[in-house]
Amino acid sequence: MFDVALNNGVKMPVLGLGVYKTLEPSEMKTAVNAALEAGYRSFDTAQMYQNEELLGAALETSAIDRSALFLTSKVDLGNMGYQAVLDSFEVSLKKLKTDYLDLFLVHWPGQQKLRLQETWRAMEALYAAKKVRAIGVCNCLPRHLEWILEMRGVVPAVNQVERHPLRVGRELQDWCAARGIRMEAWSPLIRGNFNLPAILALAEKYQKTPAQIILRWDIQGGYVVIPKSVHPERIVENAGIFDFSLEPADMAVLDGLDIGHTISRDPRTYDF
Ligand SMILES: NC(=O)c1ccc[n+]([C@@H]2O[C@H](COP(=O)([O-])OP(=O)(O)OC[C@H]3O[C@@H](n4cnc5c(N)ncnc54)[C@H](OP(=O)(O)O)[C@@H]3O)[C@@H](O)[C@H]2O)c1
Repeated sequence: MFDVALNNGVKMPVLGLGVYKTLEPSEMKTAVNAALEAGYRSFDTAQMYQNEELLGAALETSAIDRSALFLTSKVDLGNMGYQAVLDSFEVSLKKLKTDYLDLFLVHWPGQQKLRLQETWRAMEALYAAKKVRAIGVCNCLPRHLEWILEMRGVVPAVNQVERHPLRVGRELQDWCAARGIRMEAWSPLIRGNFNLPAILALAEKYQKTPAQIILRWDIQGGYVVIPKSVHPERIVENAGIFDFSLEPADMAVLDGLDIGHTISRDPRTYDF
């Protein structure tokens, strides 16, 4: 396991546990405990997932100090706008049983420039007040990021986007890298639908699992990655990506699977 430095110097673990759709208290507790034992320190939730409270409760009973953890949450769609961001952030803190977040993200940019800019102003206020160590966005295309950058304030530290072998996003990554914005991959495992022949062949070649091949491709390609699982054996498996590396030709094989596939909403058009 290693950390990457964000554009403000804050260190973020390159691997975290995603908890989208983990809604059973016992499932959350099992997953969090397995992750902590396997060396994960980063957890990715969102106001939208309605499980911040469960994650907070699971972490509270662990022996790991808060300062060793990296907690991410995200502003829900209905909480965009200056005051709603500030108010909902406080609710997130309470639910997560903490007095700061490591990373707070805008969940979706939408297509309304002023709403995104007002939301970002609130994110900047939270950052200035040191209630959050880094702020960023999700699902942003250059067009959305330009709206934020033209404010000439805090440059987002992270852009968390859908990214997997069927949606590689090289141009967006290059655009963000040129501006100091770190990419983070959501649904890295295509929600479990990753058994493609090329990936199975690489798994065979490296004697790793298909999931490990994909997650290694992510971290080797400069992404932070947050696979979700509620199964301890898979959580352990997904962390087994630090003892091998993919040859450049095999990185290219995975890059070559790109078909621009979207399993969720299309950031070019999605509005709310
Ligand atoms: N910012 C955004 O808009 C956004 C959107 C979506 C997701 N996210 C974040 O990204 C995280 C990950 O994305 P995701 O949950 O959509 O999908 P994912 O991580 O690509 O895939 C999760 C699915 O894969 C299965 N799985 C995990 N490890 C596996 C393994 N080693 N072998 C076989 N199957 C495996 C899981 O099943 P089990 O749980 O049954 O093991 C689950 O069904 C989310 O949890 C969330 O934190 C962010």
